[in-house]
Amino acid sequence: MAKLVDADGFRTYIRDGWGEWDNPISLPQGAKEAAAAHRARLAAQFPGRRIALAAGRAHVRSNDTFHEFRADSDFVWLTGCQAEGAVVVIEDGDATLFVPTPSEAHTVDFFGDADRSPFWIGAAAGPKQWTEALDLTTRPIEDLAHALKGRHPETLTAKGVDPLLDSLTGSHSDELRTVLSELRRIKDDWEIGQLRQAVDATVKGFLDVAAELGQAVRGGGERWLQGTFDRRARTEGNGPGYTSIVASGPHAPVLHWTRCDGQVNEADLLLLDAGVETRTLYTADVTRTLPVGGEFSAAQRQVYDLVLRSHVAALAEVKPGNDYSAFHHTAMRVLAEGLHDWGLLPVSVDKALDPSGQHHRRYIVCGTGHFLGLDVHDCADARQETYQQGILERGMALTVEPGLYFHPNDETLPPELRGIGVRLEDDLVVTGDGAEVLSDALPIDADEIAAWVSRNRS
Ligand code: GLY
Ligand code: MN
Ligand code: MN
Repeated sequence: MAKLVDADGFRTYIRDGWGEWDNPISLPQGAKEAAAAHRARLAAQFPGRRIALAAGRAHVRSNDTFHEFRADSDFVWLTGCQAEGAVVVIEDGDATLFVPTPSEAHTVDFFGDADRSPFWIGAAAGPKQWTEALDLTTRPIEDLAHALKGRHPETLTAKGVDPLLDSLTGSHSDELRTVLSELRRIKDDWEIGQLRQAVDATVKGFLDVAAELGQAVRGGGERWLQGTFDRRARTEGNGPGYTSIVASGPHAPVLHWTRCDGQVNEADLLLLDAGVETRTLYTADVTRTLPVGGEFSAAQRQVYDLVLRSHVAALAEVKPGNDYSAFHHTAMRVLAEGLHDWGLLPVSVDKALDPSGQHHRRYIVCGTGHFLGLDVHDCADARQETYQQGILERGMALTVEPGLYFHPNDETLPPELRGIGVRLEDDLVVTGDGAEVLSDALPIDADEIAAWVSRNRS
């Protein structure tokens, strides 16, 4: 495919007679202003320092083919730019973006560079277009080496994202990633708008999946439903924000069931954990557990209702001024009490909840929520004291997602509970006096979700 025609006539003839390529940059309203405000917040944390961050490069999938490029989240937060190979340098509040220049006519690369030429990959923006789109000084990437020399003895950077930047900078800074994570905890109105769009598109994707449940049962299986959601994600946004989990029947307790090669049966509970990532790279992360045939069995309903009680109690703890961990502790207490009532805990509820006990975690080994934003597990480099041990503030976005995971071969369980997995996950934004549940267009009450499935499935 990438083999070039090697003929003098072709090489001479192809160079001339080309007009301009279209400018392919299309940024939503508010994107450049949001990025400028983010840069100002970062610069204020590092007065007198020079910072350089890269968008990164596409990863090899096999031989000479690549995974689709996805820019580094911190870089996107600071620039609104998603150009592969770009680097931003921020110095005393001034910023310069360095981007690869698309090859031009009269050069061999114009038709011969399969990775960069508009011929091969479609039109790409250069420094001029990025300057106009972002109101940000933009220069060719070839100027980066010169720009990084100068009066600052040291450039704060994050290594391992781009080999060019790595080769031009000496030291790596964990502190930079930590500060960026901590700044990104607070979303501005534009970011909340992006999250809202991500969730709205995700709700449509869940409806698409419900409509295809019949086809899945008739032989399409979990992968048909995964493809169904992912098509919506790819059409309305950039794609799924993480590999969609479609887990039916005994797969539902498997936390990261992304293999999705199972069948779907009428009597199954189907756990769907999926999120659309917008074209600006903000992602939703929503889970519903659906009775495929539109009705819960008694055992499925018993588990579902306990998870729902835990979920509702946890949601009420999401408000400004509360400990971040309050929703988690509440969710766990409700689950532990329910498991104890069912005779599944070998100790009292208090003993189970004690840090040295945690017996109930056999049935929920994962967490019950996390920050959400450009990364599905957002702000992961924030310090414990500003994240898990921190305080909720207006503008924070997070998921709440308790669940119970009863594996088919768990001999501590009565037979009727084995092979049932339930997770309920909503996306929230902390407001001035509480929280807004962005994903509440999807029903969550057991009767309502059962009716929703019956209404929407084919
Ligand atoms: N989908 C990943 C998570 O829920 O955290
Ligand atoms: Mn989640
Ligand atoms: Mn999830």
